[in-house]
Amino acid sequence: MINIPSHNRRFVLKTRPTDLPSNENFRIETLPVSRPKDGHLLVRVLSVALSPWQNQRLKDFKNYTKPFEIGELIDCDVIGQIISEETGDFSPGKLVTGRLGWQEIAEASPEDLQLVSNDFEETMWLTALSSPGLTAYCAMDLFGRPMPGQTLVVTSAAGSVGSFAIQLGVMAGMHVIGIAGTEEKCNVVEDTLGANKCLNYNDPSFSEKLASACPEGVDLFFDTLGANIADTVFDNLAKYATVLVVGRTNSNNSETPHLDYVNMRQLWAKEAQIQCFSRYSYPERWSFAREKMMKLCRHGKLKEIKTTAIGFENTPMALRDMLSGKALGKMIVKYSEAIG
Ligand SMILES: NC(=O)c1ccc[n+]([C@@H]2O[C@H](COP(=O)([O-])OP(=O)(O)OC[C@H]3O[C@@H](n4cnc5c(N)ncnc54)[C@H](OP(=O)(O)O)[C@@H]3O)[C@@H](O)[C@H]2O)c1
Repeated sequence: MINIPSHNRRFVLKTRPTDLPSNENFRIETLPVSRPKDGHLLVRVLSVALSPWQNQRLKDFKNYTKPFEIGELIDCDVIGQIISEETGDFSPGKLVTGRLGWQEIAEASPEDLQLVSNDFEETMWLTALSSPGLTAYCAMDLFGRPMPGQTLVVTSAAGSVGSFAIQLGVMAGMHVIGIAGTEEKCNVVEDTLGANKCLNYNDPSFSEKLASACPEGVDLFFDTLGANIADTVFDNLAKYATVLVVGRTNSNNSETPHLDYVNMRQLWAKEAQIQCFSRYSYPERWSFAREKMMKLCRHGKLKEIKTTAIGFENTPMALRDMLSGKALGKMIVKYSEAIG
């Protein structure tokens, strides 16, 4: 039997950040752990996955998600271990994933948890087989429709979603160009993920280098970033290009998250199609996408890139580091080790 700790620590929102969050925007609450409601389970959180949508929800602006309330637990996907009595398939010691948030011990109903198989490294359940992998797979499968020989450009290419979009494009035989914020990230995108080229948007010759990397124009633009970097890609679109709008990280992180840039001139001139995408609109596709991603992982065709921070207390600053581009791949914060 696994011991149940007497107290749970959790981060709640204290104040809203203007641009990037830091420690002063959060408060730690310590609460007694009580016996779970009938049919519910207790989960010890082992690792949490940090994502830019958490920063979106810290701010109060018109968006597709609801802002966190002041005093609300900060939500996120986690991997955890069951520590309460057996309930159906969920026995003590089993590993699960779910959206349980920045806390050490969570109470959850079985419907909100998914059992994790041992075939994959634990963190894969927060990367390839979770939101980042499913987002890249569903967006590419439903709307990207990658074709061999076409040119694909991916922003935040060394990021969590971007790294899978790059690899799916490479597997489809596309000419794949990544965009990232440092030379180190660009090297990983080329050497580990297999992109034909990755360009550093901080390089003063970025625009010229992008134009020469896409001599036939960009057929598919997988964009999680927006702003002036997206506008530079719009200057290089092929005729009838598809722009897959998957995120707006740049404006999310700014003091004006409700605003963005768009160079409509080139979109119109190239008769481009803009397809906005949220994976939350396609829940019926998730298990299909997860199966496909599992198969690719089993065949060693997908690589996970990640950065790991250690310790519950370090969660807010790990979010800040990830948002300011200091993380490679998925930012994961490890809270505790699995027992047994
Ligand atoms: N549509 C959906 O269903 C869906 C699902 C999941 C995520 N998303 C969205 O997709 C985006 C990416 O999510 P993710 O989890 O994969 O995050 P991520 O790309 O791993 O992390 C954010 C990255 O954004 C870049 N960045 C941050 N601020 C920037 C700035 N001002 N200018 C340029 N680059 C900046 C940094 O990379 P560099 O160092 O390379 O700049 C940073 O590493 C987010 O906007 C998220 O909300 C959408």
